[in-house]
Amino acid sequence: MTKIRAAITGVGGYVPDTILSNKDLERLVDTNDEWIISRTGIRERRILKEPGKATSDMAVMAVRDLLSKRGLEPDDIDLLILCSVTPDMIFPASANLITHKLGTSKPWGFDLAAACSSFLYGLHVGAQFIQAGTHKRVVVVGSDKMSAIVDYTDRNTCILFGDGAGCVLLEPSEDDCGIMDAILRSDGAGAEFLRQKAGGSLNPPSHETIDAREHFVYQEGKTVFKFATTNMADVSRRIMDRNNLSAEDVQWLVPHQANKRIIDYTAEIMGLPEEKVLMNIERYGNTTSATLPLLLWDYEKQLRKGDNLILATFGGGFTWGSMYVRWSYNS
Ligand code: UT7
Repeated sequence: MTKIRAAITGVGGYVPDTILSNKDLERLVDTNDEWIISRTGIRERRILKEPGKATSDMAVMAVRDLLSKRGLEPDDIDLLILCSVTPDMIFPASANLITHKLGTSKPWGFDLAAACSSFLYGLHVGAQFIQAGTHKRVVVVGSDKMSAIVDYTDRNTCILFGDGAGCVLLEPSEDDCGIMDAILRSDGAGAEFLRQKAGGSLNPPSHETIDAREHFVYQEGKTVFKFATTNMADVSRRIMDRNNLSAEDVQWLVPHQANKRIIDYTAEIMGLPEEKVLMNIERYGNTTSATLPLLLWDYEKQLRKGDNLILATFGGGFTWGSMYVRWSYNS
């Protein structure tokens, strides 16, 4: 019997118009363009400025882009998974808000949070519904309005993050393309190094938590950097080895866009030259759950049917993982 795989059969994306450049940040905190570029690879990021607009609104724009490119309607979706650390509110799930704004109540949906690894986890979860044969069209969205939780007085973190949304459509495929393999990992021992200290059930919002700026992203950059570098490279190398892929067999590395230095190290361990590494960190910074789908969106025209892609990620939790995808269409 032919194996049914979950294939990525469409991509959508959205970034807000407002640009926050390194020069703009120089006016907010004690930093400079040269430091940010050399330590991170980031030149600018996009910020969702419009009042009353949230993560779900960017997700809606990305999904509309995907549907129009594929000639589909919102009612054609069976399941929508929103991957995010900045949902519009804690409940109800923002997946519901997205489908409502798209004008449909046909798909069911839920939110999935695994920090910067959310999208890769979501892709793996969505693929299970396709492979089980119970769902025909699953949309996985990564959307984050990081500007809502970034402290623009903290130079350690505010230079890193940006806002954006990207999504993919998963459909069944019998032509040996699609999601071939995945390695997903997590280790809660890392939780203390990258987190939002207050706002949840442990430390509910109070005047004290607001005064202590505990609703913003907190990160011990050096510790996270070390763990990220070692582990993203490790799972990326391992997924190549267990699928007998040499560096020549891999056409593209699709890495989480947290820091260019982490990406360069991962590519080096995989033996991949720079031209095989998808990168847009320079323009968008770290958009958390949106980095991987935004890369696929930006580079869609260069991806050819049959290309071997390695998706790789790392984030708070700690969470990390890699996925081997054989690309399924020419656009
Ligand atoms: O996506 C989720 C996962 N997150 C990550 O993967 C992020 C991982 N961490 C990183 O990318 C890096 O650790 C950072 C980019 C956050 C920081 O880079 P670093 O090379 O680790 O710098 P550092 O924290 O060791 O700081 C080096 C120096 C320090 O000064 P001294 O103590 O050497 O005098 C910092 O105070 O740079 C200083 N510094 C800055 N200078 C200018 C820290 N932030 C800034 C800044 N501008 N924004």
